[in-house]
Amino acid sequence: MSPAIRYDFRSDTVTRPGPLMRAAMAAAEVGDDVLGDDPTVNRLEAIVCEILGKESALFVSSGTQSNLIALMSHCERGDEYIVGQNAHCYRWEAGGAAALGSIQPQPLTNQPDGTLSLADIELAVKPDDPHFARSRLLALENTIGGKALSLAYVDAATSLARRHGLSCHLDGARVFNAAAVLGVPAATLVAPFDSASVCLSKGLGAPIGSMLVGSFPFISRARRLRKMLGGGMRQAGIMAAAGLYALEHNVDRLEVDHTNARILAQGLSTFPGLTVSAPDTNIVFVNVAEEIAGVFSGHLAAHGIGVTSVYGTTQQRWVTHLDVSADAVEAALTIVRDFFVGR
Ligand SMILES: Cc1ncc(COP(=O)(O)O)c(C=O)c1O
Repeated sequence: MSPAIRYDFRSDTVTRPGPLMRAAMAAAEVGDDVLGDDPTVNRLEAIVCEILGKESALFVSSGTQSNLIALMSHCERGDEYIVGQNAHCYRWEAGGAAALGSIQPQPLTNQPDGTLSLADIELAVKPDDPHFARSRLLALENTIGGKALSLAYVDAATSLARRHGLSCHLDGARVFNAAAVLGVPAATLVAPFDSASVCLSKGLGAPIGSMLVGSFPFISRARRLRKMLGGGMRQAGIMAAAGLYALEHNVDRLEVDHTNARILAQGLSTFPGLTVSAPDTNIVFVNVAEEIAGVFSGHLAAHGIGVTSVYGTTQQRWVTHLDVSADAVEAALTIVRDFFVGR
């Protein structure tokens, strides 16, 4: 049996709430949120509206639920959304839009920088013809695979979508990471979109929860859909308090994760057989040469390093976050170095 993970680079979702966040949760004032009575949830929703510059916000249980509610709120049965092949709300959410919303995805190839080409988007929009699903929505993700989409690109893509009458949704699970690296407020990145989903439980370190933002009518539809999908929570203020704590204390420090990712990437790139993409934010992709992939994975696991190998042992994803310090990065690099010594 492999030993417990000591250095957990699998995802920024693995963070555990520390004593101060737990204290904030324990002290939260609560009420029945389905009835609109939870003061902590109400405060969280109000603050997120201010931070992201949208009219209305909804606290939901997860990023997956948030994206699904957004897609169902924008699209009707038989409509379609244009989305990247690698986008979370197409590839990694169990086909929820199709299964539960009767919404057809129109996936497009993501370019190496995470964008969808404007020409591909233009071609994908269907004419108004009874043969076709109605193209209703463009869904983008920022960051995507740890890469930040530039303001200029988002502007061009959302303007194109609007020229064709499409609405625009942003999966901004890690939009605060994008904002940090682009040096702009998160509200600026969210502004071109009708709706955005932002996760509290990724780099911000809350144990649970995402925020969906948009106009009053959009969030009013979303609130009904949340109930329909079984996501109406009662004394949810205990979780909202963690979200408030995360927004107050864990946004400004995201740069630390980005610095740690750069140090990690730089260190890993010095070893033969590892090809490392320079990270924009907190996600480092590493291609491992076929000949060593199996043993290298085994070495990491045996020494308590957790990484994600979603695409097999030759493609690894290392993610930095609140619970991996600069020292942990150094320790991990030492363990990697030990593997290559004498090879
Ligand atoms: C970009 C992106 N969107 C949405 C989600 C879904 O979030 P959750 O795991 O809270 O459902 C994730 C999860 O990792 C994600 O990476």
